Formats: sequence, C-alpha cells, structure tokens
Amino acid sequence: MRIAVIGAGYVGLVTGTCLAETGNDVTCVDSDRAKIDLLRRGEIPIYEPGLGELVQRNLAAGSLQFSTDLAAACAPAKLVFVAVGTPSADDGSVDLSALWSVVEGVAGHLAHDAIVVVKSTVPVGTNAEVAARLARLAGRPCDAASNPEFLKEGAAVDDFMKPDRIVVGARRQQVFDVLADLYQPYLRTDKPLLCMSPESAEMTKYAANALLSAKISFINEIANICQRSGADVNEVRRGMGHDSRIGFAFLFPGAGYGGSCFPKDVRALAAVARKHGVEPRILEAVHEVNERQKAVLADQIRQHFAGQLAHKTIAVWGLSFKPGTDDVREAPALVLIDQLLAWGASLRVYDPEAMANVRRLYGDRLAYGRGRDDVLEGADALAIVTEWKQFIHPDFERMRRQMRQPVIFDGRNLYNPRSMKQVGFTYYSIGRPAVQPE
Ligand SMILES: NC(=O)c1ccc[n+]([C@@H]2O[C@H](COP(=O)([O-])OP(=O)(O)OC[C@H]3O[C@@H](n4cnc5c(N)ncnc54)[C@H](O)[C@@H]3O)[C@@H](O)[C@H]2O)c1
Repeated sequence: MRIAVIGAGYVGLVTGTCLAETGNDVTCVDSDRAKIDLLRRGEIPIYEPGLGELVQRNLAAGSLQFSTDLAAACAPAKLVFVAVGTPSADDGSVDLSALWSVVEGVAGHLAHDAIVVVKSTVPVGTNAEVAARLARLAGRPCDAASNPEFLKEGAAVDDFMKPDRIVVGARRQQVFDVLADLYQPYLRTDKPLLCMSPESAEMTKYAANALLSAKISFINEIANICQRSGADVNEVRRGMGHDSRIGFAFLFPGAGYGGSCFPKDVRALAAVARKHGVEPRILEAVHEVNERQKAVLADQIRQHFAGQLAHKTIAVWGLSFKPGTDDVREAPALVLIDQLLAWGASLRVYDPEAMANVRRLYGDRLAYGRGRDDVLEGADALAIVTEWKQFIHPDFERMRRQMRQPVIFDGRNLYNPRSMKQVGFTYYSIGRPAVQPE
C-alpha cells in the first residue's frame, strides 16, 4: 500500500518505519527540513530503541522515504496518516493548528479513494471536523478515520509491532476493511482491532491516558500519606498489587508523571469536559496531585539543608521523563532543576540519553557529566529523578568517597532504606521513612 505519514516525530517516525517494515511503500513528511535531511542520511533525531536499525534497513530497501513535500507524498497515497503534535494551549485545551495546517495542505492533493487517518491525539469531534474541512476544500466527500496511537516511548517499536489492541474510528465499512488489512500483520496473536465511531476512538485515547495518570497520582497521594503516618508505600503497593482486581501496573510512587502525553491529555480531557458542561473533578485532582508531586524532592532537599542551598552542589541522575527515551517534555527533573537553581544551588546532571535536549534548554547554567559517577565528585547530595537501569546497582562505597556528603534523595524508590543505612547514607525516598547512617 502507498502510504504518507505526516509528522515524523516519536509517533510518525515509528508508524512510518513499522509500516514500511511489513512491505508498504511509505513516505514520511515533516515540515522540519533539518529533521528530514538527517533522516535521509539514516540518522535518527530521537532516541528510541531498535528504531535506527529499522529506518536504515527500509531506507536502503527503498520502502521508506523522507520528504518535506506534502503534496507529492500525498498524491499517490491510499492512506495519509497524520501524526503531528497536538500540544496544550494556554487554557489546557488542545492546540490543533498543526493538524489544520496539514488538512489544508493535503486536501487538494488526495487521490479519489484516499483515507486521511488521524493518529495524533485529538479531542472528541475533531475527526468530524477534519472530514468536513476536507470535503469543503476538496469539493467532494473525503474519508477521515481516527486511529489513536497507544505506543510508549522507550518501547515504541515493540508496542507498534505487538499492540494490545488497535482502535479504529470510522463511518464506512470500507474504511475499517482497509485498516484491518493494513494492520493484520501486527495482530497475529489474536489481539483485536476494535471498530467504533470516530468520537469513541478519540475519547478512548484520552480515557486510557487519564486512567493511567490517575493510577500514578493515586499511589503518589497514598505515598504522601504513608510518609506522614509511618507506613511504607512499597509494602502497601505490594499488598495492593497482588489483588488481581488491582494489579501492579502504574502503581509505582515517584516524582510525578511527565512526558508529552499524560500531562497534556489530562488537561485536554478536562477542557473537553468543561466545554460540555461536565465538571472534571477527578481529572483536576489527578493533575493537581501531580503538580504537587513534582515538588516533593525539592521540598525534601530544602528541608534537609534547612533552606541553605546556595554554595551546595547537587548531583542529578536522570533527566528524561522516564527511562528509555531522550524526551524531556514536562519531565519532573526540569521542575527540580528550576527550583534548585532558583535557590542558588550548583547542579551537576547526568542522563544516558537526554543530555543534548537538556543542554538545549539550560546551556551553561548546569554542569553536564560524562557519566553516572562523574557528577558525584564533591556533591553535597544526589537526587535521582529517572529510574534508568544503570542507576540500580551503583558502587555505594565509591559514591560515599566521591561525595562531600553521603545524602541521596531518591525520587523513584530504587534502593532499600535498610541497606542504605548500612552503607552509610542519609536516604530519602517517596512514601517511606527517611534513614540516617548507622
Ligand atoms: N509521544 C508519544 O509517546 C505519543 C504516544 C501516543 C500518541 N501521541 C500523540 O501523537 C501526536 C504526535 O506526538 P509526537 O510525540 O510524535 O510529537 P513530536 O513533536 O515528536 O512530532 C511531531 C512532528 O510533527 C511535525 N510537524 C508539525 N507540524 C507539521 C506540519 N504542518 N507538517 C508536517 N509536519 C509537521 C514536527 O516537526 C514534528 O517532527 C500527538 O498528538 C501526541 O499526543 C504521542
């Protein structure tokens, strides 16, 4: 099948590449010329495990191409996927300007039987508006489908290749048939392709992200109650998770959720609710709890140093919003960094993949480490914000020798408080009692 994918970011690049991998003829289009030039050379502008190899293979085979020419890519395409960004506007609603610019750009160039498939996360009713605008601009009815994406950054290729389910919203059986045929290679383990209205498909994506965010805010609130009341949230989490009605997924307390999806999707769904006269009380609480949670590590640090952060050096491990990605959009680490800088601390930061993105934001206001151990030299404390695997078993003896003061603020509960006491650290974590060295 000839396919155009508009927007070659985390979702579009993975979508286009994985569709090329199953034998389709794909052109990925992006308005960012530098990104397209990089991709044409087989270089990947983002960190996503396994993606580089697939891009290079399909590029070499000719099944994957990159272009800035929207019209030329769309004209021969049977399917035009739209995967441009849909960021938050100032009032929390969704800024759809990139989507509308693509709709205007493609309308005059679509083949007569082309289907425009919206993969971007968009509010209920957007698909109907896409179809209406396309029809108006093209002077004839055009098919628009909603096909929200559920991949996770850090495991995006795997998620695309082996999805739990595929959701398609459309109004005509032929559209379902074309997409079912396209996705059949990815559903070989009998996972379902769920056909529904575009409105339900659009809502499914927001509802799923809102529930996952709610689970995180829920366990963070429980953690904060544990911290004050003497319970250990890790024990509580285990006690809860073994209940088959509850499970363990997304019940890990931490420094708050971030990324390009959860924060903006919770805000967007709340805005949709308000627009329709529904008071989004749970969604607002999920968001507020998360905003507060992002300040918990900074509060612990301030209290430990009695507010005296000037002339203190804090090492930070983990900057991306979660392990396995270089994405720092709405990352809790950035909130911590801003706060510590405002209090006058010096920061030495390290992340296995996100250093370039953070350097772009902070320039020389931070010191950037070459490795995990490098940033500890002379540090008054270490703050851990992202649970990269390489942080799980550090050499604590060596760390204690390197650091000016052996203090760890662990925003991801990586270590056992009892062991930390034994190896001589003052150790703070989330929802568990702090410990002092023996
Ligand atoms: N990142 C995720 O994990 C994820 C998962 C599921 C769904 N989504 C949704 O998918 C959509 C895309 O997210 P993303 O993270 O891939 O965004 P992204 O910012 O990484 O990529 C968007 C791309 O679109 C390009 N673009 C913007 N306007 C354009 C235009 N007019 N013409 C051509 N290209 C244009 C940008 O240059 C950029 O490369 C969003 O709606 C997001 O909510 C994201």
